[in-house]
Amino acid sequence: LAKIVQTDVESYYFGYPVNAAILTCSSQGVVNAMTLAWHTTFSSVPLQYGVLISRTNFTNPLIAESSEFVINFMPAKHADLVAKVGGCSGNDVDKFSTFGIQTTPGSTVGAPVLSAAYASYECKVVDRKIYGDHELFVGQVAAVQWEESAFSEDGTIDLEQVLPTLTLGEDLYAHVSKTVHHPRR
Ligand SMILES: Cc1cc2nc3c(=O)[nH]c(=O)nc-3n(C[C@H](O)[C@H](O)[C@H](O)COP(=O)(O)O)c2cc1C
Repeated sequence: LAKIVQTDVESYYFGYPVNAAILTCSSQGVVNAMTLAWHTTFSSVPLQYGVLISRTNFTNPLIAESSEFVINFMPAKHADLVAKVGGCSGNDVDKFSTFGIQTTPGSTVGAPVLSAAYASYECKVVDRKIYGDHELFVGQVAAVQWEESAFSEDGTIDLEQVLPTLTLGEDLYAHVSKTVHHPRR
């Protein structure tokens, strides 16, 4: 099939869907949350996790100052919250009171953990680097919290218990509930 070739590239959603998580952070008494599609594991041993934060986001200096953040993986039943947290800035609103977001304290970091998350990584920043309009913060995972019932014995998510919040880009999300087994050998 014919493909479109474009060398004058813009920003695309072709790598999507991806898990839209909510990042929480706290610095000098200011607590904030933002939605995040650009994040991934950087190392498994030690467990390190990287997040790409727009250089103009309210969140950016809070992570830079505190050197901490929490990544909260949210169930699709809270996709509306994920969208709303990504649609406004902590510069203008307190997202926790505006959206009634429940939290518990982090066990190793000052940033809060979202009660509705099915899993959260508490991270301490070990590296940062600017890439174009975003900044990469790589965190060493100091603690992990998760709902036991959301995962199978092999550590994979159990889609019969919880659906991840997958963003397609723009204001579209996917609820993917089918598990398929492809043996690697
Ligand atoms: C589904 C979704 C994914 C997003 N992914 C990112 C991302 O990976 N990095 C980023 O900097 N902003 C991302 N955003 C935008 C921020 O969440 C948005 O700019 C937010 O208002 C920033 O909040 P803050 O100013 O309080 O930090 C995303 C928004 C949505 C809705």
